[in-house]
Amino acid sequence: MPIYLASEMGFCFGVRRAINLAELALREHGSLVSLGKIVHNRQVVDMLISRGMHIVESIDEIKEETLLIPSHGVGRSTIDKIQARGLHVIDATCPIVQRAQNVVSNLHANGFTVLVFGDASHTEVKGLLSWAGEGAIATFGVPDFDTPHRHIGVISQTTQSQVKFADFLAELMRSELSSVAEIHIFNTICDATAKRQEATLKLAAMVDLMLVIGGHDSANTRHLAEICSTTGVRTLQIETADEIDPSFDYRTIRIGITAGASTPERIINAVTQRLSAFSA
Ligand code: F3S
Repeated sequence: MPIYLASEMGFCFGVRRAINLAELALREHGSLVSLGKIVHNRQVVDMLISRGMHIVESIDEIKEETLLIPSHGVGRSTIDKIQARGLHVIDATCPIVQRAQNVVSNLHANGFTVLVFGDASHTEVKGLLSWAGEGAIATFGVPDFDTPHRHIGVISQTTQSQVKFADFLAELMRSELSSVAEIHIFNTICDATAKRQEATLKLAAMVDLMLVIGGHDSANTRHLAEICSTTGVRTLQIETADEIDPSFDYRTIRIGITAGASTPERIINAVTQRLSAFSA
């Protein structure tokens, strides 16, 4: 049972930075309040909770504690509330997400209708929409505009699939080019995501089974699993080594392993160790 590891996987720099900031704050202050999950990985969140971090869903639940803004960022109204209350903030918003927020703010300020290619229910996208002003839309397909929009600005959720974003842009051009004066496109898919997707695709073509490790609520992990599935290879998404099916015969197949950007190395190691044990 050869096991192959993707050349790029696991913690990205944005996740590593957020965790480092949280750990530093916990060492300095003893406790910390995170506005939502710091990253989409239960094991990371549980580890920080065990060290004194608390999670709240709204600014209204916070008293005087130090507040951490998670890696996915927050919306404009939340920043306004934080400033109005003068809370002490540690901003762990990933710089790539911050850049996307700046891009949509500028597009809005310059009169563009903003389209965000992404999942409207995801924390990052909700934040982006709030910076993109009235009329901004999060979508996976070209929307039916009630009135023609002459100036359209397009970005992507930072962890979306490059291939799907390219398909969306092609469809947008086909359907809207005759009615718009300007379309500004910004590739806001982050480099770490793109590299993990490319390495995963390459590996999926070489093996019989792909194991994709990461939080079940992690968008970038889900996209890695989708990418594997498009190659036709059997794909399983698991969060921890405990989810490996022990009844499956792994001995005669080639297994590829990849992991989302918020998956800790110790979990990846635990998965490879458990798989190796099955071949013994
Ligand atoms: Fe940032 Fe990309 Fe990671 S947006 S949090 S570097 S997946």
